[in-house]
Amino acid sequence: MLLEAETRSVSKKTRNGLLLAALVVLVLGLILGGIIGHFATKSPAGGTWSKLTAEADRTVSKKILSEIKAENIRKYLSDLTKQTHLAGTPADLGQAEELKTFWKAAGLDPVNIIPYNVLLSIPDKDNPNKIVLLNENDEAVFTSQLVEKVLRPEQNQSDVVPPFNAYSSPGTPKGDLIYVNYGRMQDFTWLKEEKGVDFTGKICIARYGKIFRGNKANLAEYFGCIGLILYSDPSDYAASSSSSGAPYPASWWLPPTGVQRGNVKMSSGGLGDPSSPGYPGIESAYRIYENETSLPTIPVHPISYGDAEEFLKQLSGEEAPEEWRGALPITYRLGPGLVNNGKIQMFISTHNVMRDTYNVMGIIRGSVEPDRYVMLGNHRDAWVFGAVDPSSGTAAMMEVARAMGKAYQEGWRPRRSIVFCSWAAEEYGILGSREWVEHYGKILGDRAVAYLNVDIAVQGNFTLRGRAMPMLFNVMRESAKHVDNPSTTEIAKGRTTVYDTWAANYPEKDSTGQATGRPKLPILGSGSDFAPFVGKVGVTCADIRYHYDDSLGISSYPLYHSVYETFHLVDTYMDPGFKLHAAVSQYWAELARNLADSYLLPFNVVDYAGAISDYVDRVEESFGELIRANGLGTSLAFLRDASEQFTKACEQFQNSLEDVNYENPIEVRRFNDQMMDLERAFIDPLGLPDRPLTRNVVFAPSKHNSYAGSSFPGITDAMFEIEKKSGVEKQEQWRLVHKQLATVTFFIETAAASLHPATDYMKPAEYNPN
Ligand SMILES: *[C@@H]1O[C@H](CO)[C@@H](O)[C@H](O)[C@H]1NC(C)=O
Ligand SMILES: *[C@@H]1O[C@H](CO)[C@@H](O)[C@H](O)[C@H]1NC(C)=O
Ligand SMILES: *[C@@H]1O[C@H](CO)[C@@H](O)[C@H](O)[C@H]1NC(C)=O
Ligand SMILES: [Zn+2]
Repeated sequence: MLLEAETRSVSKKTRNGLLLAALVVLVLGLILGGIIGHFATKSPAGGTWSKLTAEADRTVSKKILSEIKAENIRKYLSDLTKQTHLAGTPADLGQAEELKTFWKAAGLDPVNIIPYNVLLSIPDKDNPNKIVLLNENDEAVFTSQLVEKVLRPEQNQSDVVPPFNAYSSPGTPKGDLIYVNYGRMQDFTWLKEEKGVDFTGKICIARYGKIFRGNKANLAEYFGCIGLILYSDPSDYAASSSSSGAPYPASWWLPPTGVQRGNVKMSSGGLGDPSSPGYPGIESAYRIYENETSLPTIPVHPISYGDAEEFLKQLSGEEAPEEWRGALPITYRLGPGLVNNGKIQMFISTHNVMRDTYNVMGIIRGSVEPDRYVMLGNHRDAWVFGAVDPSSGTAAMMEVARAMGKAYQEGWRPRRSIVFCSWAAEEYGILGSREWVEHYGKILGDRAVAYLNVDIAVQGNFTLRGRAMPMLFNVMRESAKHVDNPSTTEIAKGRTTVYDTWAANYPEKDSTGQATGRPKLPILGSGSDFAPFVGKVGVTCADIRYHYDDSLGISSYPLYHSVYETFHLVDTYMDPGFKLHAAVSQYWAELARNLADSYLLPFNVVDYAGAISDYVDRVEESFGELIRANGLGTSLAFLRDASEQFTKACEQFQNSLEDVNYENPIEVRRFNDQMMDLERAFIDPLGLPDRPLTRNVVFAPSKHNSYAGSSFPGITDAMFEIEKKSGVEKQEQWRLVHKQLATVTFFIETAAASLHPATDYMKPAEYNPN
């Protein structure tokens, strides 16, 4: 009524104005309608606005998880391990093609095979590697086995590559033998400084374990040895075989004839393909000479403990200290020299070759944000049959892809794209993934949400364990609560999910040593395909596996990289029934689904602040006094300050997520991008000192053990060197420490700024205009 009266009372002039306005509204409406109509048909959602703002359908989780079947994984593993599949061989391409066919049938689209031409290393078939014990007349009195003894019929295949260390230098060095324990820096240093050992012209023998074998080779070379022999001591690889019966094939323990293969390429010798450092090994690539790589210049070769016993028992010299003794039935001596007055000679034909090797990439396209990638990856190449490393992971990934592909074919449309990655030549030092990240790093920098790695799916039956970057801690714990416990004995203890066993068997402890009741989630080290994502691009990463009980005191699962790593081993001892494999697959799938489907990404930035602040505490504890005594107290205070700023920014950001307007998909995407990009904020394009290709200033492989992670590697490495220097060199080293403190401080400050509201990232300058 009122409206009508008012309308009627308006003047003629106003009425004309209103007519004009109505016309404008009509025209605008038509244009807008056109635009909306245009986007309704052309939008990536393929439908309505509501799809852009839809929360994930969580019922899909149950569907995918219940589709994952242990018996399928068993079947895949049986197929994958019928043949050897060393990188760069026809079998490598054969498995790539089979995987492509499998993924296509599972509904992934597209599926691509991406080749890279890279520098690999192989022994010479006609000139087998061996180590010979000579007597004083230079006559051979013992020769190491050329191949591992066949213990079961399925191992008797002509294409089994004999034991070797990839990227060893070829050669025939002859000399005295010295025992160097685990071949760590402290082992060499102790021999040199306490025992006055001169390594020049000597061959050293080290046991495997504790640190990456490439670091051992590097140190042997550095100290002047002319050759390095590696072996697996029973104390590290057959711990209780004497107490609990015979080794493989009667159990999972390493027999006296088993040998661990493995590469001895240092990461500093060019990450990925040694011939194309920093760039992908594609056709147009520039290649450096072999003599420009920093591959080992001495022969390095692995032997069994059966053979090692024959050499070690000949050692003369002082008895080795208690903690240097392994479990062989001999008196461990240091050498140098042999009781028969003879020498040791290595005959090593291992040499470098260029080969093609193949990544396979399969995609489930995202429906709303196809340009955001959640990646799952596992390497495909194995030293021999690879039933544990990596084919347990390959079989698991096949089942995850099949289950997700099935859900997709039945109508599930993940919000973001899911990318399955089957990497080539990981065993040679993380080649396939590194080349791909070098190839597509810019694109990944813009679009990669997370990378979830499974190298080995099952290496023991004690508990599921994850390692991750801090932003994933929360979602890793939550996802584990959705996966049923595969162990009936654990369920009988009231632990119904993998989370419960993880929390019980691998508990987190707080700084006072008290258990928090939650599972422990260590930071990623190195040693698998997540490394290039962390080190080059800054993508948040996780690594998952079922693990053995650490209290066994072993260095890895016993048959690691030996010919005995067969389907029989897994099927009989490691996971009869394949329920552990199924649990890993379910966990991996649940994590990926959660990250791909959640409207708001399930990251937690506050955990990142916790990690940074812990690292600052560690710098303070380890070096604080020394740093202050050398006049860099202010720099340390700046670092502490930056960490506090960062913590505040993380807390404010996490709180602001409470108020996100879910009606506005652009706003949600903005918050998601801020979280995704947080990891990138720690990438220094100039790289670490002496490691220009390693660019993450927070996380990097330790310079002294490539398997281990190092926090604030620039600061830690610079401080590690400080004691060794004196005079002017020491002054220069302190300048480097200063620079590293300032660099890390700067990156933490910018990381904090990146979490501020969009137009409020700059710190007002404090300036005095007068
Ligand atoms: C391995 O196979 C070859 C030929 O196939 C056979 O001659 C040899 O006896 C087999 N060795 C063992 C230990 O089974
Ligand atoms: C390195 O290798 C290249 C190609 O084989 C050769 O031309 C060059 O002389 C070598 N350089 C050195 C320093 O040995
Ligand atoms: C795990 O494996 C060991 C060694 O094979 C075995 O003794 C133990 O019973 C297994 N534990 C479970 C829970 O299956
Ligand atoms: Zn592996």
